[in-house]
Amino acid sequence: MKRSVNFSFHHMIRIPEPELMEDLIQVESYAKADFETAHSFLIRKFQDRLPQRFAPESILDLGCGPGDMSSRLYSQFPMANFTFLDGSEFMIDLCKKRIETMVPKKRNNKIDFKKELIQDFVPESPYDLVFSNSLLHHLQDPFEFWAAVQRSIHQDSFIFISDLMRPDSFFSASQLTKRYANEEFEILKKDFYNSLLAAYRIEEVKEMLEIVRLDTKMNLEPISDRHWICYSKQRN
Ligand SMILES: C[S@@+](CC[C@H](N)C(=O)[O-])C[C@H]1O[C@@H](n2cnc3c(N)ncnc32)[C@H](O)[C@@H]1O
Repeated sequence: MKRSVNFSFHHMIRIPEPELMEDLIQVESYAKADFETAHSFLIRKFQDRLPQRFAPESILDLGCGPGDMSSRLYSQFPMANFTFLDGSEFMIDLCKKRIETMVPKKRNNKIDFKKELIQDFVPESPYDLVFSNSLLHHLQDPFEFWAAVQRSIHQDSFIFISDLMRPDSFFSASQLTKRYANEEFEILKKDFYNSLLAAYRIEEVKEMLEIVRLDTKMNLEPISDRHWICYSKQRN
């Protein structure tokens, strides 16, 4: 039986976008985009929320895309074993190229690149850190995302999820696109606009967490005019 969330649409209705990013031009423009400001901001939030002296031995990056966030994670934890997963062949290839330039020849850690749908992903063993940026809004059924997260953790895993949040109106979506993507190519501007329309609102994410019973284990916070983060609570 499919679970459904009874979201009340006082706000602009969600307009889904295709799950996978498989169009070569779209992938290339995404891979070339300048995410420095947004991604370094998100990574700082991630670092601030990590438990002290956290040293994960295994890390999963769900929906890694061309690897901008992945490379930041790799630099932070170069000794860990990694799984980078994306359902798009172009994306996972770009991620692989990018990470492989960073990896020294002699290394002991295992780095896997999986071209796979999160819906099909069954980890061999759980990960100490499960990370995902900007994937949830791609999914038609958001519970498939949470199920993949839940399959990939153990009791002490640290989860960190970030994504866009849907604004109140088409007008705000256009304003945000002007503010944050004005210098980018048209295709990327359109992508960003569509992603805003496809994004889940924070109260929708809150409801999802309650349904999958992660609400007592995770904090959820808006951190900018367009992003939220959701991460494991510190255990006492
Ligand atoms: C907006 S990109 C985010 C990439 C990266 N995490 C980042 O922060 O730049 C979303 C990625 O999720 C992938 N994706 C979407 N739906 C997926 C699914 N069902 N299974 C696996 N990957 C998926 C897309 O192919 C795309 O590469």
